[in-house]
Amino acid sequence: MTYRIAVLPGDGIGVDVTREAARVLQTVAKGAGVGLELEEGIIGGAAIDAHGTPLPDATLRLCQASDAILFGAVGGPKWDGLRPEYRPERGILILRKTLDLYANLRPARLHPTLVDSSPLRRSVVEGADLMVIRELTGGLYFGEPRGIEGTGPARRGFNTMAYTAREIERIARLAFGVARGRRKRLTSVDKSNVLVVSQLWREVVTEVGKDYPDVALDHLLVDNCAMALVAEPRRFDTILTENTFGDILSDEAAIIAGSMGLLPSASLGGRVGLYEPIHGTAPDIAGQGIANPLAAILSAAMLLRHSLELPGEADRVERAVDRVLVAGYRTKDVQAPGTTLVGTAAMGDHVVHELEALYR
Ligand code: IPM
Ligand code: MG
Repeated sequence: MTYRIAVLPGDGIGVDVTREAARVLQTVAKGAGVGLELEEGIIGGAAIDAHGTPLPDATLRLCQASDAILFGAVGGPKWDGLRPEYRPERGILILRKTLDLYANLRPARLHPTLVDSSPLRRSVVEGADLMVIRELTGGLYFGEPRGIEGTGPARRGFNTMAYTAREIERIARLAFGVARGRRKRLTSVDKSNVLVVSQLWREVVTEVGKDYPDVALDHLLVDNCAMALVAEPRRFDTILTENTFGDILSDEAAIIAGSMGLLPSASLGGRVGLYEPIHGTAPDIAGQGIANPLAAILSAAMLLRHSLELPGEADRVERAVDRVLVAGYRTKDVQAPGTTLVGTAAMGDHVVHELEALYR
């Protein structure tokens, strides 16, 4: 059995970190004796420069013909002047929509050795371990109508936050299932005191909850959730929310884990899953060899678990990362007194070595 993995590094540090994650997958292939065929595709700003489009047909076909996608990040100041339809970000958005990746899992767990890397106080953050489940193919990102109309001061820009009951139901079922495998607590986040779309959201989630009596469901308004996430992060287990709220709250949740450079994600729903670090392209440090590759490496672990159904190999990769952190190696984003500063490639080396040791 040989699995095909599409590797889409994208732009900025997406390129640096994806290289290390791909090496980790190759180490797994060798160690576990599974056939992994990695093939690279171009996407985002790099694709705009080379082909005039953020998602060339060849890249979409490669993804559709693969068993899973390892994704880096897209965007950068060079393309910031472009209209939304032509921006690098369109590449990932079209991919999510076309592949029906409606469920985005973003686990945020504070590694015990990184407590002092979090800007939050130890007494607040120690032991935090939560999962944000973000709806990924609906809401403001894709709602119609959208546009800018009129002229002069009367010009009007608009997006639409819309969800069907069916869209809410499928993400809710997935979220209850995930919560069931965790601490059995699900917090659904909305803005139902203002938005009618949130009223439907809350109604449908509550209805679906009746099928999961073993999972404790509560509802929280998004502004309140934003505060509670940093004030008392341990109160959360699984968070379910719509696309835009999830985008914002998951960046906030990254602070709990110590750094954006540590948070992986899985986008699921259709036949082909996509795995990406939640951080962006970080143009300020791109190409300098200092970006943290652990979010990308942990995304590769999620790929092994969810798409290739190799939970044992996923565990090994996570354990290797664990050991590297316990040994005190840190990239700049999480550096602390008494630790050893390493760059992107060296961090990748350490994970690969620990992984090889786990296979011996
Ligand atoms: C994310 C990113 C993307 C999003 C961008 C790059 C389009 O911020 O994955 O969180 O907004 O979904
Ligand atoms: Mg985001």
